Amino acid sequence: MPVYHKLLKEILIDETTLQTRIAALGQQISADYAASQKLLLVCILKGGVMFLCDLMKHIDVPHKIDFMAASSYGTGARETSGAVRLEMDVTTRIEGCDVLIVEDIIDSGYTLRFVMDTLLARRPASLRLCTLLNKASRREVAIEVDYVGFEIPNRFVFGYGLDLDEKYRNLPFIGVVDEGALKRDE
Ligand code: IMP
Ligand code: MG
Repeated sequence: MPVYHKLLKEILIDETTLQTRIAALGQQISADYAASQKLLLVCILKGGVMFLCDLMKHIDVPHKIDFMAASSYGTGARETSGAVRLEMDVTTRIEGCDVLIVEDIIDSGYTLRFVMDTLLARRPASLRLCTLLNKASRREVAIEVDYVGFEIPNRFVFGYGLDLDEKYRNLPFIGVVDEGALKRDE
């Protein structure tokens, strides 16, 4: 049995379902940005990496990529603090670019609000947001999301870029944590 098995309650989104939806998102983004000469995908580390890699394969408009890291979650604590820190900035000049943020999940919205305000201050030509997962029921600050892969319930999920105490980002599916097993494990 794989080591994550005892922490996995159920698979919420399997690999095929993920890949099918991501291909459709890529096609939609390609159509929406067909006329853009300056598309820049800004991936939010670390959770967004798997999603970025698969999504960009389906975007047929020439584009650049860059990375940003921000955190509102301390390691181990699965509650948001509201305080967001910029841990790593992009190196690309944002002014005049059509920026599309690529994020793994929006929960309270604090991280994205901070990232969007930071990027908006640099005067991009446009700024949109693409998230693989959306926990709309958890939202504390208003965020307008342009592209959503899946609306999910208020459960703690891991895999496909998302971590469980910094591990299991490599899993090709989105799983739900077995909270009981997690407590027994601590
Ligand atoms: P927010 O600032 O509350 O919207 O938090 C967003 C960040 O919290 C995401 O980018 C994730 O890194 C992390 N996060 C939120 N929910 C989950 C989850 O269910 N599993 C793993 N990470 C999560
Ligand atoms: Mg994230």
